[in-house]
Amino acid sequence: MSRIRFSENSYAEHTGHTWDVFSFAGTQAVRQLHQMVPGYQRTPLVNLKGLAEKIGVRAVLVKDESCRFGLNAFKGLGGIYAMYRIICRELELDPDKATLSRLMESPCREQIQEMTFATTTDGNHGKGVSWAAGLFGCRAYVFMPRGTVPVRAQAIRDAGNAQVTVTDMLYDDCVAMTEKLAEENGWCLIQDTSRNSCDQVPLWIMQGYTTLYYEALDQMRAFGYDHPTHILLQAGVGSMAGAIAAAAVSSCKDKVPVIATVEPDEAACFFESFLKDDGLPHPSTGSCETVMAGLNCAIPCTLAWNILKKTAAGGFACPDEVTSQGMRRLAYPIDGDSSMISGESGAVTTGLLEELMTVPDSTGLKDKLGLDQDSVVFLISTEGDTDPEHYRQVVKK
Ligand SMILES: Cc1ncc(COP(=O)(O)O)c(C=O)c1O
Repeated sequence: MSRIRFSENSYAEHTGHTWDVFSFAGTQAVRQLHQMVPGYQRTPLVNLKGLAEKIGVRAVLVKDESCRFGLNAFKGLGGIYAMYRIICRELELDPDKATLSRLMESPCREQIQEMTFATTTDGNHGKGVSWAAGLFGCRAYVFMPRGTVPVRAQAIRDAGNAQVTVTDMLYDDCVAMTEKLAEENGWCLIQDTSRNSCDQVPLWIMQGYTTLYYEALDQMRAFGYDHPTHILLQAGVGSMAGAIAAAAVSSCKDKVPVIATVEPDEAACFFESFLKDDGLPHPSTGSCETVMAGLNCAIPCTLAWNILKKTAAGGFACPDEVTSQGMRRLAYPIDGDSSMISGESGAVTTGLLEELMTVPDSTGLKDKLGLDQDSVVFLISTEGDTDPEHYRQVVKK
């Protein structure tokens, strides 16, 4: 019996759809902001030719987000763009005209120094918020769920300017508490999930993530691939998956890519929602015990759900061993491929792809998704070794 579970999404629309706010034109301002950030560089897109040959697909292209802004994960893309937009809103500046350097000069700088942001995180989003707060010169309070390893909390403090509290709550209760505290104290909430589809800040955060897809599209074209045929996307609350799915579907010319969400089986809210098949997002019923800390979220982001319900062929639920295999595969690649440091939440899609293509019990799933020798598969290694000790234990030979 395969240890991977898949649930089809019967609400998927197999035709193209355009989300203006995630389209290339609609995210111009996002890329402009990112390119103004000191030290901005495109992260590498790694063409794993050896792996593609071994598993029988045309290409496996992995975007290595461990190099993003020196933060070891992709999340800063969303944090900085949302913080920029909130600052512009509060200071009544036009976000299309304000520049980073203008915000860092008087009188903006003094006004921004008075601002306080707050968020809940299981690690990487908080690090992005702390870093952005350091860059803009404001303050941030970051709350973390129980079970957070100290190294992740310290990385947030070290990234910029945040006061970090590890609570005794599960992630989703922590989100509710932070929202209440922000309201009581007049802090700006900068949360990467929404419970309400008209929330502005989570939309800005999601728009921030699109930079990685549009960079990748350019990079894959340089490799000779027009666009991916398949995209496997890790989902915690689903904001990243929703943003990338919307960008991918909005920018594909003719053939819509096959998209699937990938979650830990003990925190699989998209998998469980697809399984329930009533068109609504549902919390996961698992134990929330997983090494994939960034994906350990039980309640889907409403905005993301509305996109993924239309774009995802379905959702996978994977045990931790799948990501351990992905971490080892990326650390010790097939001869000729480049090696990559990919953490627990970053490597699960690579582990899953290899298992789907090579483990006989999984071949039904592979066929269901139409994965074959013509497939160009796009994956995102969303983080590096954000828990270095655990990373070492997993990848040691
Ligand atoms: C490394 C990593 N990958 C993927 C995700 C999933 O992103 P989202 O919660 O937007 O689904 C996270 C979330 O924190 C993360 O830290």
